[in-house]
Amino acid sequence: MHITFCCTDTKAEPWLDGLRAALPGATVTQWQAGAAQADYAVVWAPPQQFLDEQMALKAILNIGAGVDALMKLKLPAKAKVIRLDDAGMAVQMAEYVCQAVVRHFRELDVYETETAQQNWAFRKPRNRVDFPVGVMGLGALGERVAQALHSFEFPVNGWSRSAKSVNGVQCFGGLGELDNFLRATRILVCLLPLTPDTRDIMRRETLSKLQLGGYVINVARGAHLVDEDLLSLVDSGHLSGATLDVFRTEPLPQAHPFWQHPKINVTPHVSARTLRDESIHQIVGKIAALERGEGVAGIVDIQRGY
Ligand code: NAP
Ligand code: GLV
Repeated sequence: MHITFCCTDTKAEPWLDGLRAALPGATVTQWQAGAAQADYAVVWAPPQQFLDEQMALKAILNIGAGVDALMKLKLPAKAKVIRLDDAGMAVQMAEYVCQAVVRHFRELDVYETETAQQNWAFRKPRNRVDFPVGVMGLGALGERVAQALHSFEFPVNGWSRSAKSVNGVQCFGGLGELDNFLRATRILVCLLPLTPDTRDIMRRETLSKLQLGGYVINVARGAHLVDEDLLSLVDSGHLSGATLDVFRTEPLPQAHPFWQHPKINVTPHVSARTLRDESIHQIVGKIAALERGEGVAGIVDIQRGY
């Protein structure tokens, strides 16, 4: 079996070593133009040339949860596209989103500013029932995030394409229920895949439907959010701020207003990192299952785009 590795912005050697150790019988190589045909590809944002050359692939295994970079390319017709299914990302995402929600709800940014000036001052406690959180996307990551928020006793809403049932979460399904979901929500968390249906989903029209003082947490993809609409709704006071981990252009350009905005917290796309060992374990397990003719989780529906 031949596995080819083609991951942009990723140090190859530790992955190649890990894959070789986990699959001692396989040939594992880093892809170069003109390389031999492989059976499986481990990829992150590969160039089109890679897919054009690798005609015999049985499966393309993405080392992330989001496959939007792959969906822009012309894919070999017969290869399955498989994404990471949690692989240690869900717990990280739950940590990140809970810290952002709690930081906002408990006004920790304000306390940080005040204590930096050695000011010992209390603020009136706020009531968590006034801070319903809405999670857009109830997949591998969103469901875990919704459950973690529920454990902190926030009212939690969830929205997905198909109707879902998640303990402690008021679930809304499909476009027809989006308005009701937004109107029931004060803190909006985006954990949708980026597809033609979800691009620009957080824009003036939708964000205006959040409860007054709404707050946005985007941990999915930058193109889910229309930056100018967020800025104008924050500056007008309808929204109270945002925590953003993903951006239309990454790294976030130096001149972008998000960097300096006092009500916007920025992190550099780190809310849920790909963990190499967990990912290799999952990828190798999936390759073994495919070789046995079994089904695997995380197969991308190319028509849906996720
Ligand atoms: P997933 O398991 O595929 O879940 C996607 C969820 O979104 C599903 O609940 C799906 O609904 C819902 N959805 C998709 N299209 C929809 C639409 N048009 N309307 C309503 N709901 C829709 O994905 P995941 O593993 O949770 O990952 C989600 C995204 O997180 C990734 O695609 C990636 O972009 C992002 N991510 C970011 C980071 C980071 O560090 N910032 C890390 C990892 C992932 P159904 O359940 O009905 O199918
Ligand atoms: C990271 O953004 C991922 O999609 O895994």
